[in-house]
Amino acid sequence: MDRFKPYRDQLDALEKAGRKRRLLVPAGKDFSSNDYLGLAQSPFLKDAAQTAISNGIAHGSGGSRLLGGNHPEHEALEAFAADHFGAESSLFFGSGFAANTALFATLPQTGDLVLYDALIHASVHDGMKLGRAPFKTFQHNDCEDLEQEIRTWRASGGTGTIWIAVESLYSMDGDRAPLADLARLADQHDAMLVIDEAHAVGVFGERGTGLAGALGQQENILILRTCGKALGGEGGLITMPAVLRDFFINRARPFIFSTAPSPLTAYLAHQAIIHVAENSSLQTDLADHIALAESCFSGLSISEGQDSQIFPIILGEDQLAVTIATELQAQGFDVRAIRPPTVPAGSARLRISLTLNVTREDILALSSALREALALAEAA
Ligand SMILES: Cc1ncc(COP(=O)(O)O)c(C=O)c1O
Repeated sequence: MDRFKPYRDQLDALEKAGRKRRLLVPAGKDFSSNDYLGLAQSPFLKDAAQTAISNGIAHGSGGSRLLGGNHPEHEALEAFAADHFGAESSLFFGSGFAANTALFATLPQTGDLVLYDALIHASVHDGMKLGRAPFKTFQHNDCEDLEQEIRTWRASGGTGTIWIAVESLYSMDGDRAPLADLARLADQHDAMLVIDEAHAVGVFGERGTGLAGALGQQENILILRTCGKALGGEGGLITMPAVLRDFFINRARPFIFSTAPSPLTAYLAHQAIIHVAENSSLQTDLADHIALAESCFSGLSISEGQDSQIFPIILGEDQLAVTIATELQAQGFDVRAIRPPTVPAGSARLRISLTLNVTREDILALSSALREALALAEAA
């Protein structure tokens, strides 16, 4: 008996469809990571880690936050983040994925409804599946469709709270959400709005606070900021009203029944937020890269004109995306193909992300190599 046949069959099917994924150790110029500000391997965070360890900050938390794993570094980060991002309170999770899952599994109650943007991240989907409330999608960035869904649900007798899930900058399309309109709609319909700033925190906004600006001060707006992308570490911070933080601590299973993130991680996230806030050149240097890439990738990227560090080049066919990515990798550019189910079928793409790990010359060189590879593929 081949007990692993079902797994082999599925992997073979993925291979045939050009969708089998493999782990690659990063090599070449970084056009694939989310280390937008180049902090992940920065001397600043290395020094901060060394200082922290020499000063006795623990690298392991030792337990759940409720059972001996709550360290001063967690408390300090959360108090600082609440103040810095202008919210009543915040709570730190080991990853953005865990934070999103916990949020949607815990806060929407029986009788509520979750309405999520069609391009929302997988972590929100997993949270909704674990939660108590039904969930339904609305068309990407379409406030009219969202309002229609709200009205339809109310007309059908829905009386609970509506939770709206969006990202401020979409991870695979690189476009921005109409946050002001969404907030207005949420107010009009007494809804809660959850904004995922995973790809915007650090990169945009005053002192790197993201695209949501002052919206996070409203009691009906919760914001997730992840620490593993522009902030160069790992973890996820949700800012929210204090009563909801208290509810998380008492009810969120991924928070309660899991070892707390390392105090060192919490300390580094804290330092990274301060560092970004105090070094505006990080943002302006990345903005210069974005301006250059806008002209280099003109006519190629769907995020053109969006003021975004994510440049998706849609190629359609899975195999074509893999072939071009492999060609660029062979030339020393770490560019990755993104295929379904991460993106909708028929929209396989290269996701070029800009970071401060590359120079202007690297961007120019990638743009020539990419245009050449695309021309060759077209001619073939
Ligand atoms: C929009 C979005 N939200 C949440 C996450 C999860 O965050 P983390 O990587 O910290 O688990 C990601 C990660 O890819 C993301 O792109």
